[in-house]
Amino acid sequence: MSYNQNKRNTLLQEECAILEHIHLAGDQHILKLSAPEISAKALPGSFVHIDCGEQFTLRRPISIMRAVNGNIELLYKKLGSGTAALTTREIGESINLIGPIGKPFELHPKKSRPLLIGGGVGMPPMVFIADTIHNSIQSSSEYRPFVILGSEAPFPFTATPSQMMIPGIPDGVIGSMPLLEDWKIPNRLASLQGYAGTHNGYVTDLARHWLDSLEDEELAQVEIFSCGPHPMLEAVAKLATEYNLPCQVSLEEFMACGVGGCAGCVVQVETAEGPAMKRVCVDGPVFEAKSVFPNS
Ligand SMILES: Cc1cc2nc3c(=O)[nH]c(=O)nc-3n(C[C@H](O)[C@H](O)[C@H](O)COP(=O)(O)OP(=O)(O)OC[C@H]3O[C@@H](n4cnc5c(N)ncnc54)[C@H](O)[C@@H]3O)c2cc1C
Ligand code: FES
Repeated sequence: MSYNQNKRNTLLQEECAILEHIHLAGDQHILKLSAPEISAKALPGSFVHIDCGEQFTLRRPISIMRAVNGNIELLYKKLGSGTAALTTREIGESINLIGPIGKPFELHPKKSRPLLIGGGVGMPPMVFIADTIHNSIQSSSEYRPFVILGSEAPFPFTATPSQMMIPGIPDGVIGSMPLLEDWKIPNRLASLQGYAGTHNGYVTDLARHWLDSLEDEELAQVEIFSCGPHPMLEAVAKLATEYNLPCQVSLEEFMACGVGGCAGCVVQVETAEGPAMKRVCVDGPVFEAKSVFPNS
């Protein structure tokens, strides 16, 4: 899957009816919206820029977790005033979105062992990649992804004991995300909070267990995809370097316009021509890990 669309021409503004608004522990919320146009163009890693109400000059960026049958799902955590205002919105009301925005993850079906690592509110793009794999790639029996999700807030789903054995994973680490389990996508959970069935440690520790269990030819098929807090992404980038693996990361920078016009979200990345300033909203949010963390 490659990203070769003209980004500016694919941005849409859509008034989206709220179909479901689920309030979960840890101030986390799932919004299901009717968004036929945005949904049709969304790809894993795309985000929407949300109008949280007329009192807010700036929209807020939130990743798309799923895009199915004309609807999109978002998982967001209440942080400040914008996301707090969102939590009050009810079924039947509508929310104005701009999207889908950003350069998405690029899946390479020949890299048949993708490792997806999502942390906190960085989990949604990993679920979107897993959904894409489930729907369009996994029919190839050689294609075997593994997903690791980490959270220090309660997971935004009820973990279920997995029916799938995964080489290298410590005994007792059996908790999994039911949706991924339904899709037959092996996955495990990590947290420092001691939740039952989860790995008591970092996502990267769990990843290391799995990577160490692979034969050299399997390791050569691994590509890492990740989204989460900056320190986690840096640790994932270091892991990728240690195992000599390609790695794409999605950044969650502060944004203003969200559509490439204000340079409010620029980060320095390494390119073949040397250091360059890139806008996370439209040049990203997905970048090669090496370009964002050159010293990892
Ligand atoms: C590409 C992208 C995808 C994201 N996806 C998700 C997601 O799926 N779920 C989720 O819960 N959060 C996500 N975030 C973070 C989310 O945008 C912020 O938590 C939210 O903007 C905070 O707004 P606020 O008004 O509640 O907080 P405030 O702190 O009051 O926000 C004030 C300003 O700071 C900006 N801001 C604050 N924190 C962040 C942050 N961490 N990242 C970027 N801008 C920030 C806001 O946009 C706003 O302009 C994403 C961010 C980006 C850039
Ligand atoms: S937020 Fe304005 S250019 Fe990215």
